[in-house]
Amino acid sequence: MHHFTYRDSVLHAEDVAIPMIADAVGTPFYCYSTATLERHYRVFAEAFADLSPLICFAIKANSNQAVLATLARLGAGMDVVSEGELRRALAAGVPGDRIIFAGVGKTRDEMAFALDARIKCFNVESAAELEALADVAQAKGQTAHVAIRVNPDVDPRTHAKISTGQAETKFGVPFAEALGVYARARTLDGIVADGVHMHIGSQITDLAPFERAFQRMAELVDLLRTEGTDIRHVDLGGGLGVPYRGANDIPPHPDEYARVVRETLGDRNLEIAFEPGRMIAANAGILVTRVVRVKSPAGTGDARESAAANDNPTTGKHFAIVDAAMNDLIRPTLYEAHHDIWPVTKPGTQSAGHTAEPTYDVVGPVCETGDYLALGRRLPEVKEGDALAVMTTGAYGAVQSGTYNTRLLVPEVLVSGSAYAVVRPRQSYDDLIGLDRMAPWLSSEAPVASMSP
Ligand code: LLP
Repeated sequence: MHHFTYRDSVLHAEDVAIPMIADAVGTPFYCYSTATLERHYRVFAEAFADLSPLICFAIKANSNQAVLATLARLGAGMDVVSEGELRRALAAGVPGDRIIFAGVGKTRDEMAFALDARIKCFNVESAAELEALADVAQAKGQTAHVAIRVNPDVDPRTHAKISTGQAETKFGVPFAEALGVYARARTLDGIVADGVHMHIGSQITDLAPFERAFQRMAELVDLLRTEGTDIRHVDLGGGLGVPYRGANDIPPHPDEYARVVRETLGDRNLEIAFEPGRMIAANAGILVTRVVRVKSPAGTGDARESAAANDNPTTGKHFAIVDAAMNDLIRPTLYEAHHDIWPVTKPGTQSAGHTAEPTYDVVGPVCETGDYLALGRRLPEVKEGDALAVMTTGAYGAVQSGTYNTRLLVPEVLVSGSAYAVVRPRQSYDDLIGLDRMAPWLSSEAPVASMSP
């Protein structure tokens, strides 16, 4: 459930009309809803109330400072995967003891920085990383709390690029090697390996893979405890899917997911941690974009006239060319991801008594065929200047944006009730181009070298 709704045919984020923000800020922009972020966090936390888990928001999903602060105020911890994300968590006021550091390639410098921040736990992904962390901790005279990420070799049945829990991926220690890594950890100064970590993938819409993976974790905890490793916490990662197709696409409710956790890992006196990202942020954000131009097949005056011919592939198709592109939202082209697209202002009904819904490819201005937000999508007829909302883009949207084609990073806006704030302004061309430096031999004062024959 989210708080983007129509009032008098105009899309609102909570109590703020989207066209009002679009006029003030320009398009494209990301817009987040505080009430939705809070609701998702609370639904998740309430599902586990009896277990009092540590819920660490996966910053990789949305790292805006205002979003992090919104969640931190509710008691969220943070799951970080780089020094940059750790700095973002600390800057948003999250205490170190609510931060978990994951990731396959932590550098020694990052480890040292995290030790100084007194983070709660390092999720260690390999035997070699464990040795490096021990070196760094010993050199600093500090102790690192560690959970070994164990790869349960379970197929999460999601997109290949966001599956992490199978043996062939780069993530974690193979289940069969885990006991050996814990045995080694017991001998290392500077290391207290009192946790187990897993994460099998993202946008998982079926509870069965979670259940199998949690069973394996339970098995491992029991084995480790019999061997003398005092396991106190289990971090079950993130991964719960979200409805990208509105009511046609209902993923498991957090209550169902919580039932699976209780059935597989309950009664073990464990502190449980989670790292949800998408489930908290995806539906709390939209990307608002404007139609720059509509390109229709020759011979069709406008999209409406040819709407009836949409099913005929020989008539060509309509392109709604919008001002957002793959550099602003890469999910459709990178993961073949579906995002619903809503008109910001619902059109009235046509004279024929129904709303025309031609089929569009909604594409950006970037010079790549893969630059699209939606393909073959039936939408109420659009024209130049119309605003569209690309739904469910609060997770893995702005964070994965770039400046390809020298396009500026777009603003992020946070709404709360009837208030809104620009929580990341639009980048300026001076900011962007000014990141480059001229090489000394290319400056205008330097003589131009003659070409050798
Ligand atoms: N913990 C770890 C160790 C992770 O690798 C991830 C996501 C999460 C937690 C959060 O998972 P979530 O609850 O958000 O599913 N860019 C892709 C998703 C990449 C997910 C990477 N890891 C996308 O747009 O679909």
